[in-house]
Amino acid sequence: MHTILILNGPNLNLLGTRQPDIYGRTTLADIERLCTEHGAANKLSVICKQSNHEGTLIDEIHAARGRCDGIVLNAGAYTHTSIALMDAISSVELPVVEVHLSNIHAREAFRRRSRIAPVAVGQIAGFGPLGYRLAMDALVDMARSGT
Ligand code: DQA
Repeated sequence: MHTILILNGPNLNLLGTRQPDIYGRTTLADIERLCTEHGAANKLSVICKQSNHEGTLIDEIHAARGRCDGIVLNAGAYTHTSIALMDAISSVELPVVEVHLSNIHAREAFRRRSRIAPVAVGQIAGFGPLGYRLAMDALVDMARSGT
């Protein structure tokens, strides 16, 4: 059975009440349930983590090595700034799909640059919570086809 880590970064614990015009009303608990159910339906083991702290996110990426087959990562604002997260991803050599609820390319200019994108296998942005499922499907497809 494949194992996927769903890793959410800063301020995503406030989903549901945080700028609902941009991020919607779905809570983080809802997203984690959606991912767990999607995992169960596809015979996957799913681990969900969230942290507001860059170092803790890095620790989670390190811990995923040898335990997970891939990571779905919404690094929140660290996406745009964190070379440390970028290096962590390069270090563990696990496939990472970058996810954003909002379309970061249609917002402020500073959100268009991602430090994660160059080390991710791909990026999904603008589909709300559905993006997490699409990212899981991409990882599983890659793992099962051996790409
Ligand atoms: C986000 C987009 C980021 O620019 C922002 O800082 C977030 C959420 C998204 O899911 O759309 O915290 O990652």
